[in-house]
Amino acid sequence: MTILPRRHFAATLGTAQAVVLSAFLAACGQHDGGNANAQQAAASAVAVAPVSTPQTARSTAPSTGPDAVLNTAAPAAGASQPYEVAPWRDHPVKLSAMAELGKQLFFEKSLSGSGKMACASCHDPANAYGPPNGLAVQLGGLDMQQQGARAVPSLKYLEHNPDFTIGPNSSVPDTDVATATPAAPTSDVKVASVAKGGNLTGAAAVAQQAAANNVPQGGFDWDGRIDTFQDQATGPLLDPHEMANKNASEVVHKLRDLPYAAKFKQLFGDHIFDDEHLAISEALFALTRYQLEEPSFHPYDSKYDYYMIGQATLTEAEARGLKLFEDPAKGNCSSCHIDKPSVDGKFPPVFTDFQFEAFGAPRNMHIAANRNPHYYDLGLCGPVRKDYTHVDAYCGLFKTPTLRNVLSRKVFFHNGVFRSIDDVMHFYVQRETDPARWYPKGKNGKIDVYNDLPPKYKKNVDVADAPFDRKRGDAPALDDQEIKDVIAFLGTLNDGYRPEQAQTAAK
Ligand code: HEC
Ligand code: HEC
Repeated sequence: MTILPRRHFAATLGTAQAVVLSAFLAACGQHDGGNANAQQAAASAVAVAPVSTPQTARSTAPSTGPDAVLNTAAPAAGASQPYEVAPWRDHPVKLSAMAELGKQLFFEKSLSGSGKMACASCHDPANAYGPPNGLAVQLGGLDMQQQGARAVPSLKYLEHNPDFTIGPNSSVPDTDVATATPAAPTSDVKVASVAKGGNLTGAAAVAQQAAANNVPQGGFDWDGRIDTFQDQATGPLLDPHEMANKNASEVVHKLRDLPYAAKFKQLFGDHIFDDEHLAISEALFALTRYQLEEPSFHPYDSKYDYYMIGQATLTEAEARGLKLFEDPAKGNCSSCHIDKPSVDGKFPPVFTDFQFEAFGAPRNMHIAANRNPHYYDLGLCGPVRKDYTHVDAYCGLFKTPTLRNVLSRKVFFHNGVFRSIDDVMHFYVQRETDPARWYPKGKNGKIDVYNDLPPKYKKNVDVADAPFDRKRGDAPALDDQEIKDVIAFLGTLNDGYRPEQAQTAAK
């Protein structure tokens, strides 16, 4: 996109980002036909990146069991080192007592105001911990009729999700963006405080400028507003559209009434329920441990993983799809949905660079809030997220989701507007070439492109990156056969592939 280009910087990233970034840059180097600068930057990114800590969880109590996430990391090695696929198959993971408690809480319906909703109701283990049905957004609340505002993301492969940061955009020359002059590093804090500031006459302008030179990335949720699993879970527990508890005390009362409340005392001490804040914090910590330790949240056992270590062969259609997925002039998908492990071989690809884009997805009229013509979900710039509401350049931007298990979904994009992968693919290649297919006509009879954005933010929509770089009437970046091939490739990202069964089947 124009304002927030896809290729950037290494200098001031946190460790997790640097590792992700190094993979990203390596991939770019390859796409650029061996861009020396990118490779150099990738090398230095690795040099400055110590062993990355996975999503950290804070607790006052010790964790008793094995740390599954740390265990999954193969020793750092050369760039071509294949990562370890499905290590838990050979070394079964025993959940710690804390994670076992978290597991019970994850499925515990009595923790909701309605008594009918658990984390697992929306994050269904049978659907890659994503939505259990084809509703664009889920229903919850006290009467189980309150509509959420966004599609439920999968909870898989979030274990290395970096904290939300805004980093300077410099050092790596960007070939597809005109504005990519190296920016003076502007600290995150400065951007944030300027953006939050009350007097925005001059400050807003400074914030706009800072936004243009920096790239937001990481964080949980479609708008990156939450940093840790632990913080994340308070949201659904108290959200009136979700688990709908009135306040923290109500949650603590419910915890105290659980048939297994004694476990809390065992793990956290006899007085754990005396301090509400602590009790909730430990419950959330247990939920976090569960998501970090339980292998089914990050099994890395797709066909693509086995293909990466030479234990699976792609079909012709899948192989053609992969090529299109990586081709910068065709799908260009891997420039955001990164498909290579980190260069040190430590982290398997998770098919996201954790960055934000405005794609101008059509307005979804199945979301009741959208019947109000003045309501817009603008992602990074609000209204759910509150800290960047004055940074115009962030309006309409949403986080790039993982594509692992994407074919298990029935709704796609932040507002669940697409109901099939075929629609997603056609939107990608037709949005610019044939917009009438995707947007309604406005009052003036013209096609109302990007109709889920107020006019002044439409300029944020990415028209620079393939496949969006075609113009009206051009041939789409992918034809129907090519789309089928890319979808065939996406099918290799479903978890649960078993090379030995595939071999038997082929005999
Ligand atoms: C009513 C449905 C619903 C319930 C119940 C629910 N969630 Fe979610 N969850 C969502 C939605 C929708 C989002 C995305 C929210 C957003 O982007 O603003 C989300 C986001 C998340 C994320 C961030 C994922 C990402 O990709 O960034 C995590 C982690 C999460 N939920 C964990 C939980 C836990 C733990 C519970 C139980 C305490 C829970 N959720 C209960 C609907 C739900
Ligand atoms: C410039 C970065 C970028 C490129 C290039 C890109 N994507 Fe995406 N992708 C995103 C972002 C950001 C979203 C979420 C947009 C939203 O919700 O508004 C997304 C969403 C998706 C989704 C929906 C996933 C879900 O859980 O809802 C699919 C499927 C997808 N992309 C596939 C692809 C394919 C296939 C390609 C190549 C043809 C591609 N993407 C190219 C950034 C990118």
